[in-house]
Amino acid sequence: MRDEIARLQKKLRINKALIDIYPTLTYENNEQFTHDLLKALDESRCALAQQKRMKAANFPILKTLKNYSFEGIQMPESITIEDLIAVRFIENKENLVFYGNVGTGKTHLAIALGVLAIQQGKKAQYFTLHELINKLVSAKEDGKYQTFFKKIIKNDLLILDEWGYLPLHHEGARLIYEVISQFYEQKSLILTTNLEFSHWKNFLFDEKLTIAILDRIIHHSHLLVFNGSSYRKEHSLMK
Ligand SMILES: Nc1ncnc2c1ncn2[C@@H]1O[C@H](COP(=O)(O)OP(=O)(O)OP(=O)(O)O)[C@@H](O)[C@H]1O
Ligand SMILES: [Mg+2]
Repeated sequence: MRDEIARLQKKLRINKALIDIYPTLTYENNEQFTHDLLKALDESRCALAQQKRMKAANFPILKTLKNYSFEGIQMPESITIEDLIAVRFIENKENLVFYGNVGTGKTHLAIALGVLAIQQGKKAQYFTLHELINKLVSAKEDGKYQTFFKKIIKNDLLILDEWGYLPLHHEGARLIYEVISQFYEQKSLILTTNLEFSHWKNFLFDEKLTIAILDRIIHHSHLLVFNGSSYRKEHSLMK
């Protein structure tokens, strides 16, 4: 019978988890059994989809809010820590900008919020700004720009880390403008930086593009200021 169930599962293209699930269910009546089976199949499909989104997210390392201290973060009045954790800013198509010195937990919080978004069924991806620009440039060279660009803007949340850490070339600034303008009022961004906005033209170079990019980022944005001292330095083994 098990072989026949496996054959039908394949033929009907039902989730192959069925083979492991059905022997674990209890039978009281037809309706209850069918319900429990469908529910378990649905849960298995959701878990698989979540795993896939986690893989696609490109997180350099996994971070969560477990043991994360918000102490050194100056929160704006426009958002609470509870709102952040509930990732409500994504529903509202708002952006977060994390500004602060090195080692103060910007990347950590950005990734942890990305993980929470994925757990809530959202699509999120992480790149450093330079990584994304390099990928856009190579996609262009390989004739795959449209496909890659479409994939990027399908995300509900795009995390772009390290604005201002390295200077951009003009083409880089132009490519990133295209991404930012697609996200504007449609999707959410988390950006991290250690440079004040007034200095952004120093790495974006083009003044007009800098204004256009900043205007779109800032309009629906919450600014979190990371005031603490470097977590890396405080917890260094070299102390
Ligand atoms: N508030 C915090 N609670 C727990 N761990 C933290 C906290 N802040 C930072 N850390 C840890 O300290 C290290 C540095 O943090 P992170 O990489 O997020 O800093 P950053 O602000 O992104 O720095 P940079 O500007 O250099 O990229 C990481 O290992 C991170 O997990
Ligand atoms: Mg960082």
